[in-house]
Amino acid sequence: MSAETTYDKVPYPINSFAQTHPNSLETIGRLFGMDPKPSTESRVLEIGCASGGNILPMAEQLPESSFVGIDLSETQIENAKKLRDTAGITNVELKQINILDFGEEEGVFDYIIVHGIYSWVPDPVKEKILSICKANLAENGIAYVSYNTFPGWRLKGMLRDMMLFHTSQFEKPGEKVTQAKALTKFLAEAVEGEDTAYSKFLSKELEEINKYRDNYIFHDALEEVNDPCYFHEFATKAMRGGLQYLGEAGIGTMLTQLMKKEIAETLSRITGNIIAREQYMDFVRNRQFRQTLLCHKEITLNRNINIDTLRNFKIRSLLKPVSKMPLLDDGIEEEFKHRSGNSIKPTNPLAKAFLNEISMADPAYLPFEDVLERAKRAAGDKLNAENTQKSESGLLLLVFRLYCGNLVHFVNNATSCITIPSEKPEIPRFARIQAANGLPITNRFHQTVQFDILGIKLAQFLDGTKDREAIVKALVHEAQTDRLNISQDGKKITDTDTLEKILKFRVEQLLHSFAANALLIS
Ligand SMILES: C[S@@+](CC[C@H](N)C(=O)[O-])C[C@H]1O[C@@H](n2cnc3c(N)ncnc32)[C@H](O)[C@@H]1O
Repeated sequence: MSAETTYDKVPYPINSFAQTHPNSLETIGRLFGMDPKPSTESRVLEIGCASGGNILPMAEQLPESSFVGIDLSETQIENAKKLRDTAGITNVELKQINILDFGEEEGVFDYIIVHGIYSWVPDPVKEKILSICKANLAENGIAYVSYNTFPGWRLKGMLRDMMLFHTSQFEKPGEKVTQAKALTKFLAEAVEGEDTAYSKFLSKELEEINKYRDNYIFHDALEEVNDPCYFHEFATKAMRGGLQYLGEAGIGTMLTQLMKKEIAETLSRITGNIIAREQYMDFVRNRQFRQTLLCHKEITLNRNINIDTLRNFKIRSLLKPVSKMPLLDDGIEEEFKHRSGNSIKPTNPLAKAFLNEISMADPAYLPFEDVLERAKRAAGDKLNAENTQKSESGLLLLVFRLYCGNLVHFVNNATSCITIPSEKPEIPRFARIQAANGLPITNRFHQTVQFDILGIKLAQFLDGTKDREAIVKALVHEAQTDRLNISQDGKKITDTDTLEKILKFRVEQLLHSFAANALLIS
């Protein structure tokens, strides 16, 4: 029996992180000229996998790859094993082990993921993390390490110091969290309305802390170790350990082109290398968190991304045309909008046709070249031989910028999901288990998706064996046995006919929402 850790007492929230997925690490590696192992047939290590919220859905989705997850907390590893075995996932090995004891004999991995650990462990463990990222990384492997950074954490650290002082008088984790929130509220209210940076900072922190779950606050804000660093310090340590900086998981943050022109120009003038440039960008943005990708120092990287490489990927767009039938004529603006409200208004026929074609396939991925061919056909005589070439290079630039802004995604290996609910709809087994356990549901793009209580109930029945009638019948039974509350005008409904009528309609709506959220697999 290992010593009890704070994570045994209060397990960490179970979550999946799309930016850590080997599919997306592989794409970034390829864009920078690497030749990483295809994610679909790779060996993946997750250090600090907690209760398996990240590693298990990845493993289910990539059945030909093999996964190893390690964590110090016995309770969390046991939780992860239970989830793994209930979901029948057979390609994940889970080990309760201290990072310090992880050896070279564990072999090499194509992808190593270390999310939310580095800043929260003592220095010898930090060093060991980087040494695993060297010793256990395959030749063309990619390691992902996230960590808290200065200068952003200077301010946050100030509030943490005050929280630690205040909560030290309390014993129980629940009390500590309540008191940390109470202190933040007290301080924010004490300086509310003052025209000072301190007042603005505290009101933002109060807004944030109220959004977080208690177990997240307990660890992220109140853990004994929370040790941010400057990016250049992290990069130097990695370089000394035989690694090199590949890039950021959010590649868009690396582009000065996305900043104001004058700022981008000054940054290019005053920074000689990528490490310095990234550091100055952190100064500009007051950055507080990084998700850095590393590879072996011997790898030759191509920093001038050849956007023609995008042609080899599969693409998915998160933009929808505002108009039902966008006009493809040259020079006419058509708006394509993301649900966040961000939008673009291309006028080029090929760009409009391309975005329209790809949006029709959402949430599925399509090969870039196929979409391009379809777009050319759709644009037809709006394109002529002379402007097609120009339009194509313009399109590549446009989609690259959209990729950097997280408005389109590129992957080497498409993830299967369907866009129209079938007769007997099915979602991944792990998602059904998440729903049954009241956990956040992970979709096929490894994102967490939210549903209402009926949606969570419905998810549990989507195993590909039940048609609409059977699903509605099962939900009616749930409602009549007090396991689901369906009400109208504040009154609970138990009558079979009315329940069937309501549920038939809601189930259809929800199935379309499951499809749009990349959850349906058949
Ligand atoms: C903040 S949590 C992050 C969990 C998960 N990666 C995530 O982001 O949701 C940190 C995790 O690191 C684990 N951990 C801390 N020190 C460790 C060590 N020395 N060896 C192995 N795991 C450790 C903890 O048990 C905990 O599960």
